[in-house]
Amino acid sequence: MNTELTINGESTTLSAPRDADLATALRHNGYTGVKCGCDGGECGASKVLIDGQAKMACGTTVEEVDGGEIVTIEGLGTQRDLHPIQQAFVDHFAVQCGFCTPGMIIQAVELLEEEPSPTEEQIREALSDNYCRCTGYQKPVEAIQDAAERLQDDPTVVADGGVAETNDEPSRTGTEHTTGE
Ligand code: FES
Ligand code: FES
Repeated sequence: MNTELTINGESTTLSAPRDADLATALRHNGYTGVKCGCDGGECGASKVLIDGQAKMACGTTVEEVDGGEIVTIEGLGTQRDLHPIQQAFVDHFAVQCGFCTPGMIIQAVELLEEEPSPTEEQIREALSDNYCRCTGYQKPVEAIQDAAERLQDDPTVVADGGVAETNDEPSRTGTEHTTGE
């Protein structure tokens, strides 16, 4: 069964059963930056933007997003031109294995759109359902604080959902650290 929706700014036909969970469907359609790290709804690794809201794709059916707008980590920046939040995670060494990183960055996009100058407490609250088994949370928090400052100079990057205007990469794998299989 095919479902029509917009993924990373492009009209897309998603090939998946209507009752399939969105995380699995996206991965089977090449968006492997979406991670599945738990039995569902616990770890935050599968977060994507659904109509601008960061949600766990594993807890959403394909049918629920029919006609909607999805942004995955692949839609933010390219390997040569990272989104400012991605770049801040790199600069602050906020990535270790990278499994949790797509979900954290997607959550950060939503946070910084709603609150461009979040406090540390607000950042930690936003990440409260994003679990990391490697780095802990200090460096991701610092990265998001820095990204907030960087985005003050170019708030449209967040306001448009963060979708890269020209993704010149040959695959949908996004950055090496954020989208490993
Ligand atoms: S796989 Fe979706 S929250 Fe863990
Ligand atoms: S960097 Fe490995 S789980 Fe977060």
